Amino acid sequence: MPKNKSSPTPTDQNQNDTNPENNYDLSEAPDLYSLCDRHTELTTLKQSILQNHTRIITILGLTGIGKSVLALQLIPQIKDKFDYIIWRNIDNYSTLESMQTSIINFLSPPDSSSQKTADFSPAKTTNNQLINYLRKYRCLLIFDNLQEIFASGELAGTYLPDHENYGKLFKQIATSSHQSCLLLLSQEEPKIELGNHYCHTLKIHGFLEACKMLLQERNLTDEDRWLELINLYGGNPLWLNIIADAIEDLCDASVAQFLSCSTLYLGDLEPILERIFQRLSELEKQVIFWIANQETTVDISITPADFPHSHSDLWKGIQSLKRRCLVEKIMETEGSFFTIQPVVKSFGKMLLASEQ
Ligand SMILES: Nc1ncnc2c1ncn2[C@@H]1O[C@H](COP(=O)(O)OP(=O)(O)OP(=O)(O)O)[C@@H](O)[C@H]1O
Ligand SMILES: [Mg+2]
Repeated sequence: MPKNKSSPTPTDQNQNDTNPENNYDLSEAPDLYSLCDRHTELTTLKQSILQNHTRIITILGLTGIGKSVLALQLIPQIKDKFDYIIWRNIDNYSTLESMQTSIINFLSPPDSSSQKTADFSPAKTTNNQLINYLRKYRCLLIFDNLQEIFASGELAGTYLPDHENYGKLFKQIATSSHQSCLLLLSQEEPKIELGNHYCHTLKIHGFLEACKMLLQERNLTDEDRWLELINLYGGNPLWLNIIADAIEDLCDASVAQFLSCSTLYLGDLEPILERIFQRLSELEKQVIFWIANQETTVDISITPADFPHSHSDLWKGIQSLKRRCLVEKIMETEGSFFTIQPVVKSFGKMLLASEQ
């Protein structure tokens, strides 16, 4: 993938702005490049963090939609308001305790003889200890890849047996008084007990502007067909980047030729979609298969004749898929309707055909 050397990545910017007191630990953040800022989302996040003092914010979206890039874009804009900014990738830790230890060690290194160590024992990595730090200092904690603490084959947001203690920590962070903020980046929405008043979820959708710039960078042709292409692939920058490879390889960079294919081409997106589907419960798969076979958006207030489970199971499946951003709600004058993206529909149909 091309990398525009002239435009600094958010990570570059953060590294250039290294805090003299070394209060920022972004060592676990990915080094990503972005073309343009998501202004609306950045404004919402800043308002939520700085004005509303929301304690837990979940940035929710499909893989590749730009959650990590957005968080990296946010940091330089709010860093002056925080004493500490710490990015942790859940993938790097087998237990919550090991992650808490790493955070606490950063806040108060074990060999430090400062006042901080006198106040808190680094060996005791309990939730209370972390909350005490969140009270004492204004910290922005970022937990990336949160979906890793949830079980595959279950409804969205079901904690893995070993990771139920995350739920307790989230509840404590949501309901204790402190001045810090926890930013969760996830493909799956966490359910935070008693968190309603202090938590906020920001759903990330496709990003037309970035996708257009990306196609421009790739020198694809037939600009008048780009919008069609971008909509087909859900405005997902990662997916468009992958599809741009195929357009170069197979169609000499012609978007019109690529779109002339009678079926939606998935190519290298298949392994990504496979991983998404592997995480679904059986009920959710049935819902996707059912929606994939509908001609139009679906009205779930009507009991469907051809859905193999009960009406309430359909609602349960839809709600869970919404928590993974796999089903979208469309508000119309007659009420709300549901749909799935063309890529998900196409993969669902393919999977169904292979299972029959
Ligand atoms: N604003 C943007 N401009 C250009 N490219 C972008 C933008 N946002 C995301 N991308 C591209 O899309 C890809 C995926 O972005 P990112 O890693 O932030 O997605 P994600 O939602 O965090 O995915 P995952 O859930 O898999 O971690 C990156 O390679 C990035 O370059
Ligand atoms: Mg990410």
